Amino acid sequence: MVSTKFLWGAASAAYQVEGAWQADGKGLSNWDLYTNVYRATETVTGKHETGNVAINAYDRAQYLQDIALMRELGINCYRFSLSWARILPDGVGRVNEAGIAHYQQFVVDLLEAGIEPIVTLYHWDLPRALDDRGGWQNRESVGWFRNYASVVREALGAKVSKFITFNEPFIDLFLIEPMIENIKSGVGSPFAITDAQYGHQAMALHHWLVASAETIGDFRAAGYRGEIGVALPLMPTIPENPGKSEDIKAAALADAVINRWCLDALFKGRYPIEVMTLFRQLNPEFAPFEADFAILAANKPDFLGVNFYAPAFVRQEDSAPLGYDWMNTNPDPEPAAFNGPVRPDHLRRLLERIRDEYDNPAIYITENGAGFGPSDEVMDGDTVHDPRRANYIRRHIEAALKAKENGVDLRGYMVWSLFDNFEWLHGYGRRFGLVHVDFDTQKRTPKRSFDTYRDIVANGGVTVPG
Ligand code: BGC
Repeated sequence: MVSTKFLWGAASAAYQVEGAWQADGKGLSNWDLYTNVYRATETVTGKHETGNVAINAYDRAQYLQDIALMRELGINCYRFSLSWARILPDGVGRVNEAGIAHYQQFVVDLLEAGIEPIVTLYHWDLPRALDDRGGWQNRESVGWFRNYASVVREALGAKVSKFITFNEPFIDLFLIEPMIENIKSGVGSPFAITDAQYGHQAMALHHWLVASAETIGDFRAAGYRGEIGVALPLMPTIPENPGKSEDIKAAALADAVINRWCLDALFKGRYPIEVMTLFRQLNPEFAPFEADFAILAANKPDFLGVNFYAPAFVRQEDSAPLGYDWMNTNPDPEPAAFNGPVRPDHLRRLLERIRDEYDNPAIYITENGAGFGPSDEVMDGDTVHDPRRANYIRRHIEAALKAKENGVDLRGYMVWSLFDNFEWLHGYGRRFGLVHVDFDTQKRTPKRSFDTYRDIVANGGVTVPG
């Protein structure tokens, strides 16, 4: 069941594409509330936008057309996430058979098109019923997640050969959730995240990591024959001023928190010492059980999913959480890419670092792509000119393949994203797709970057200048 061919694909997440927020017995999720009740995008962008319709990907007539575009692109895998609340409307207990049937059909439709499904169990949308019970702060979340994962394994495990437990713990727990908390409280800027919030979220991250490890163990114990991994947001950290010792120290701390915390947990079964010390200071209740580290150590993932967009230039900034700033430091000229400075060489170095420091694990690049505002993409008749995205993708694939040549066990590359979609707190104002979506009519129009990626895939990864 485990494939050896190099995977070329694209990635997405349920809340960003599915829509159909109340269809077929689905329960509500935290994001349904964030957007509809707390109007979270409005606070950030000034526009009230939701994922209620998104790009209508729940609709089979629509997604069959989308699969036809995947075939045109020539990809052999597609990464997507499941909406937990579609499967278990209350998070636990009653199973919604219509939700299960939808995903089973989608998996069959992909396989019939020759496209391997790669399923993310959790990409940030928690059933509302569990959010009400404290969400990931509650230790019971480990059991809730294991139960949900086992329902999915039984429903899809025979046909799906790759699962990802969690997507990007750091970005969701330390950036988005604190911003949502600030929006809900209505006090100050959503971006004014505090040390106390970081301290509080440390326990939630610990619960994610334990839930992931326990789930990996459960899949193995149940005889699951595919692979199961985790997708991390990895950001090499660079001192903004390489000659300044404060920035060097800040970049090292940011590396421990953003990158090494999860990498060490997954592959070494422990947390970096500086993370333990710092987070215990911020939150005296942050006291992970010793037994949990044994669980982490005993259940390492089969592969690492690397989500790479940009490195982070870090400077010491006493007023920022943890005393460093990595979000307002893009040295690139305007307009810079949405997710940060464009530095493909840092992708190569990152992959080689993981090879050296974590015993060369199997790696899939589970996300890589470039988001731009509307003015960076020019619609011209039947196509959209997006040379900066095409250039970004070409250069990052070259860098990744160079790392593979240098001995990194790289097994696949998935672009984020095939279609423009709902970019969380930035709503529909940031586009990442190789295919333009008119959000009013749902019309799909391939961009020029679609052609670039299609040619790269057809050439087996050999990129052509242009
Ligand atoms: C997330 C995606 C998001 C993308 C682009 C990643 O952090 O996993 O859901 O849309 O980056 O910002």
